[in-house]
Amino acid sequence: MTRPIHASPDSAAARALRALERAGDRAFGADANPLRQLGALAVLALWIAIGSGCIVYVFFDTSAAGAHESLARLAREQPWFGGLARSIHRYSADAFMLLAVAHVAREWIHRRYAGFRWFSWITGVPLLWLILIAGLVGYWLVADTRAQFVATAIGEWAGAVPGVGDAMLRNFITDEAISDRLFSLLVFMHLGIGLLVLLGLWVHVQRLVRPFTQPARRLALGFGATLALLAAAVPALSTAPADLSRMPLPVPIDWFFLAPLVLVEWTSPAVVWLLAVAATVLLVVLPWTVRQARPAPAEVDLAQCNGCGRCFDDCPYGAVVLAPRSDGRRHAQQAVVAADLCASCGICVGACPSSNPFRSVEPLATGIDLPELPVAALRTKLRDALAARPGATVVFGCDEGAALERVDAPGVVKLSLACAAQLPPSFVDYALRHGAARVLVASCGEHACAYRFGARWIEQRLAGAREPALRAHLREPRLRLIEADRGEEDRVRAALAARGELSGAQSIKHRGDGAEALQSSVSSVVREQPSKAAEFTTENTEGAEKSRNRNFVSSVLNAPAGPARVRHSEP
Ligand code: HEM
Ligand code: SF4
Ligand code: SF4
Repeated sequence: MTRPIHASPDSAAARALRALERAGDRAFGADANPLRQLGALAVLALWIAIGSGCIVYVFFDTSAAGAHESLARLAREQPWFGGLARSIHRYSADAFMLLAVAHVAREWIHRRYAGFRWFSWITGVPLLWLILIAGLVGYWLVADTRAQFVATAIGEWAGAVPGVGDAMLRNFITDEAISDRLFSLLVFMHLGIGLLVLLGLWVHVQRLVRPFTQPARRLALGFGATLALLAAAVPALSTAPADLSRMPLPVPIDWFFLAPLVLVEWTSPAVVWLLAVAATVLLVVLPWTVRQARPAPAEVDLAQCNGCGRCFDDCPYGAVVLAPRSDGRRHAQQAVVAADLCASCGICVGACPSSNPFRSVEPLATGIDLPELPVAALRTKLRDALAARPGATVVFGCDEGAALERVDAPGVVKLSLACAAQLPPSFVDYALRHGAARVLVASCGEHACAYRFGARWIEQRLAGAREPALRAHLREPRLRLIEADRGEEDRVRAALAARGELSGAQSIKHRGDGAEALQSSVSSVVREQPSKAAEFTTENTEGAEKSRNRNFVSSVLNAPAGPARVRHSEP
């Protein structure tokens, strides 16, 4: 059962990043760990920049003569409103740039740019240029000596483009050129590019179902408060008014935006062009540098599909659509996979009610399947392994999570799936009935899931809060669900070592705080097994810390769990 996989990289950078992310989980809690929500935080920073920018705009004089004074007046006359808004505007713009770059670095290090992700990656690249240009124009608008430096350096930089020449520089640094018209143009560009960034972001997340654009509330509040405190403690001020009769340097540098211009001064415009073009080309071609074959997309077997729509509901990339029935069967619709959107994660396979190993169809077939790891092969492998090792513990893992091949545990049957949510819950039942002593499902943490919703869906399905739900009586001591990301193989070893000490339902409880359905099934187990409940409380402190405040989870859990016919609405 060898298959090409998108397995998470094991490079030194990836290991270091994962260690850093885990440190962030411990410091902030997994839900509020900024390192795991860089894209969403960047979106928040953009909204704050837009909101604070609107306030500044009300007081801003867009004439060449009045721009500098109007901003100086803000600091003098209303430091706690307009002045504060200006500072927040600057720092949120800085944060936006920083977070966008950090987001790119994270996706890069986790190697999330190739294959089906090419679209998200490529549509991100122009955003970086747009943010930079919007920031540079913003600094120019201030009409102080720093703006003078910005205008001069941009003139030099752009002037190095063949065909543009010195005329460009003259347009920026002569008294006659600094006109109201130029300032109106700059304001138009600053606002227009900001709106283009919003539009670009919308395109950027087009291929993601329910894109994660809102950071957890606790994180958002902390971020907003940090910006406000910073703005109050270190107000953003202008330097002296621009004076074209003097050289602009030295001026205080905002490295988030002005670094390329400083580099123009330190080296030459040609060098900075070379670096900028090389970086852009590198980013653009990166998705196509991966030689690994793309795994085959999911395939629908119409004979097994009743059009229930669960695959459609659970696919994180909108790769399944429901279409009118084409084979004359009585069902109204059928699943259709858009192959180029498919991540081959198998989450749809775990969602399909036909992925049931107890079915007598031979060979086992299901409504939607991964050709390289079909449910039939999974069942055969499981059955054969259990026949050879009755009484074994079965571990279902994830190719992107803890590497099961590194868990050396004799007497354990290990089956790694494309994603933990590829596991149809009925396989747990099947394993237990075919001789498994217990079943351990190791999924990544919710915010570490390479396929966005895999960890959440498997948790909900096993807890009975999402279809296909594991039958209630199976959520008892012989099943356990743990979080074990790549590099956290020790968690799997520890769970295997703690043989039978925790019930599955109890451990599930702490992965899904806030789920009423979950809590009631859990509390019945806890009532029946008070001693186990006590063990759980002490032993699972670490897990609880990882899973605290899973408000995203609880909001989804509170949504109707059944199959929906409408396209996904926001949780
Ligand atoms: C300009 C600022 C940017 C913002 C605010 C932003 C925001 C986001 C958001 C909110 C998501 C969705 C995360 C999710 O729901 O799972 C996302 C995904 C993604 N972004 Fe960005 N992004 C930005 C720039 C970029 C850039 C420049 C690149 C790369 C060149 C990039 C690469 C990606 C990729 C590859 C994904 C998909 C991740 C996945 O499918 O697992 N982003 N981004
Ligand atoms: S394999 Fe994953 S991406 Fe492809 S259709 Fe199924 S759930 Fe969607
Ligand atoms: S989950 Fe299975 S049966 Fe339901 S629509 Fe998808 S492929 Fe068809």
